[in-house]
Amino acid sequence: MSRTEPAALVVLVSGSGTNLQALLDACTDPAYGAQVVAVGADRDGVEGLARAERAGLPTFVVRVKDYETREEWDAALAGAVAAYDPDIIVSAGFMKLFGSTFLALYGGKVVNTHPALSPSFPGMTGPADALAYGVKVTGATLFVVDPGVDTGPIIDQRAVGVLDGDTVETLHERIKGAERGMLVEAVGRMAREGFVVEGRRVRFGKLVD
Ligand code: GRF
Repeated sequence: MSRTEPAALVVLVSGSGTNLQALLDACTDPAYGAQVVAVGADRDGVEGLARAERAGLPTFVVRVKDYETREEWDAALAGAVAAYDPDIIVSAGFMKLFGSTFLALYGGKVVNTHPALSPSFPGMTGPADALAYGVKVTGATLFVVDPGVDTGPIIDQRAVGVLDGDTVETLHERIKGAERGMLVEAVGRMAREGFVVEGRRVRFGKLVD
């Protein structure tokens, strides 16, 4: 990725898109070092797409139900993303697992946010699972996507305390606040400094021999 140009981000969403909005806001500062070039979703009509449209960005929707197999959907998603030649793909509340075609093309530059402290509570219900387990601290994890469910090498994590009286909603909202800050800070550093995945470890900076 050239450091003289802002890094091109494609952001994938499934819902409200508050993580996307945090990135869009950060990208208004040229010093941030990244630009969102397109936003994709796996469903129509979500607020994340509306946020992209309001920002004047191209959007695309690739729905699982429009394809015979999950593999065909995965290849179509990879094709839609390829049109924008991204440096980094941000899965920001995108509620689908990537398949082998997508990861063969983009593995190593797809990052995902997860609303729990990995390796605890992987999957779609991290805040509810943390609350049900009774942990006193949970949080958010940003990781480089691998074929597993929220198992990839960890870029950053933020801790969030669980409060007496928390519901899944109040806890998730507080996690999302921490998640947005983490995402903006880490993606900016990845864009400006580069990043290297060495086994389970991720560090910012360039590859040195
Ligand atoms: C985030 O907490 C994300 O980690 C989870 O769903 C939430 C999406 O929020 N998978 P938003 O769409 O960015 O507002």
